[in-house]
Amino acid sequence: MTVPRGQNDFDWNGFDTAVYYAHNYLSLRDDDREIIERVGDHFAARLRDRQGLRGIDVGTGPNLYPALTMLPFCSTVTLFEHARTNLDWLFEQKDNGWPSWDDAWGQCWKVLSDLPVYQQFDDPQNRLVERADIQPGNVYELSPEKPYDVGTMFFVAESITERESEFRSGVDHFLDALVPGAPFAIAFMEHSAGYHVADHEFPATDIDGGTVRRCLATRVDDVQIERIKTGDKPLRDGYTGMLLALGRVNTDTKEGGPAI
Ligand SMILES: C[S@@+](CC[C@H](N)C(=O)[O-])C[C@H]1O[C@@H](n2cnc3c(N)ncnc32)[C@H](O)[C@@H]1O
Repeated sequence: MTVPRGQNDFDWNGFDTAVYYAHNYLSLRDDDREIIERVGDHFAARLRDRQGLRGIDVGTGPNLYPALTMLPFCSTVTLFEHARTNLDWLFEQKDNGWPSWDDAWGQCWKVLSDLPVYQQFDDPQNRLVERADIQPGNVYELSPEKPYDVGTMFFVAESITERESEFRSGVDHFLDALVPGAPFAIAFMEHSAGYHVADHEFPATDIDGGTVRRCLATRVDDVQIERIKTGDKPLRDGYTGMLLALGRVNTDTKEGGPAI
């Protein structure tokens, strides 16, 4: 039996950002479209006309659509990332006004704009320049002085380790970084066998909806865990679908800031 490898056993600074971005985000996939619609609905319903909140996206890589779903409600959106290559890409993009907007994120914003709160939000590309706060870090050490009001974590907890204990720790640290009552969205790859970006191998924890439900059980309220249809073009081999968990951090197990 092989021993599951941990997050630390992989070369994250070898993550080829350009290859990952081009493969995943240059044309909008049907599964991403569905996720964007559902997360937009969730935040629009939970946050309504709230403004000035602090949001965090954990393990951003070169994916800005989770941040966009939080943008109208937030005065800052922290993009929390571990790999040097992804951080360099994010800083360079932000310094240049997100040139990837035209090729990738504009399409995502168009999907969100079916909802009034996003449609009425002016100039999202420049607002993202003003409000994005790129922070290097490690999710297993994520422990903000002041917890965030809303959060997203997409394809991270299960896609950085083969160990279920680290998967659970990633989810727990993410939820711990949010105030009680904070709405969140977490996306997962289901039954992933790991993945390659260019010639680098990266890990996965083999999880399904039951694993996610058990992991969230004592931590969240009103959670919905949905399987997202893959359509006829899977992103790659070696996974069975995507899962999306939408809910609120519960108010029982933590002390801290005001519930939303
Ligand atoms: C599969 S990618 C997902 C990227 C992006 N969220 C997306 O939706 O495409 C996993 C991301 O987790 C980041 N990561 C790896 N180890 C991490 C850690 N310990 N803490 C935070 N992020 C980490 C990687 O650098 C990479 O950006």
